[in-house]
Amino acid sequence: MFDSYAREIDYLRVSVTDRCNLRCKYCMPEEGIEDIGHTNVLALEEIFRLVRIATRVGIRKVRLTGGEPLVRKNITRLIAQIAALPQMKEVAITTNGILFADMAAELKAAGLKRVNFSLDSLRPERFRYITGRGSMEDVTCAITKALALGMAPIKINTVVMKGINDDEILDFVRLAKEMPLHVRFIEFMPVGDLPFYKTDRMVTVSEIKEIVGQQYSLHKSLTVQGNGPAKCYQINGGLGTVGFISAMSDHFCTECNRIRMTADGKLRGCLFGKQELNLKLALQNGASDEKIAHLFSKAIREKPNRHYMGEGWGADNKRKMYQIGG
Ligand code: GTP
Ligand code: 5AD
Ligand code: SF4
Repeated sequence: MFDSYAREIDYLRVSVTDRCNLRCKYCMPEEGIEDIGHTNVLALEEIFRLVRIATRVGIRKVRLTGGEPLVRKNITRLIAQIAALPQMKEVAITTNGILFADMAAELKAAGLKRVNFSLDSLRPERFRYITGRGSMEDVTCAITKALALGMAPIKINTVVMKGINDDEILDFVRLAKEMPLHVRFIEFMPVGDLPFYKTDRMVTVSEIKEIVGQQYSLHKSLTVQGNGPAKCYQINGGLGTVGFISAMSDHFCTECNRIRMTADGKLRGCLFGKQELNLKLALQNGASDEKIAHLFSKAIREKPNRHYMGEGWGADNKRKMYQIGG
């Protein structure tokens, strides 16, 4: 289905939980999160029903996010159900990778096509500092496993933060050169109101490109399967690619193809938008499939033309990244 600005919306991002086994400084408070209560979280059966209905308004791709999607019990079953929907072209996840290696084979068998890993440092101690816990080896093992299972293209999401990991930019480019991995540098987005945002952490995509350009020549842009928000480039002689997600400095809203569902059952037209439609309430009121399909089409119709993050809007946004799913 097309929105009011002639963008075709066929991609639904589903946050299946706001919980996580890590505490990335830019995402979650150290002490963890308030418990939103079991009954406020969508049951997996509810998520499946909502996704099934979303295919009626043209959703053809689903990405499960979190928090960390793999901490949700029985997630493999949900993936299998979604993958089996006749209209569904792709089921993917974005994960921190900690639990992935052990689950990889069953996830693939369930129909998981693609996986994007979050990885902000290639240095074990620094990885632990940024994530608050967790071992970098678990993530590298996960990536190796995904490569072995042929889950290509595999994307690596790296949030660049001034004074934290901006000295590793060239190391990540080397990784993309030596392995068939698609590294995407992401501009740090101050979503929510974490203390970590108070200092100036953002490194813009043009600053990142300048650093990359010191040692590598990037070749013409290309599309890596997934149609995500990144602009991707080939590196001379490289097996993978390097991409840039300029969420803050140069928003890509004109090409946006997605809507989002939160773990507590709210439908959001935009990552930074204000509007949320309450799917959970509709389910509690016994809404019919038609009524729910109507809510999906309303979210698409009323999707804002662009976000206004960084232009005065944002301070009042109390939703954090782990609640929206990135
Ligand atoms: P592909 O399907 O592989 O292209 O994945 P994706 O890039 O759509 O998803 P992923 O979960 O890997 O997200 C990568 C980064 O892009 C994360 O930091 C997200 O927060 C950010 N992102 C995803 N969608 C949007 C969006 O609509 N707006 C903005 N500003 N950022 C987004
Ligand atoms: N800014 C930029 N990217 C973020 N992510 C989570 N929080 C932020 C933020 N504040 C990224 C994660 C993950 C993806 C879903 O979103 O690194 O890869
Ligand atoms: Fe967890 Fe991802 Fe947030 Fe890190 S960014 S705390 S891995 S949800």
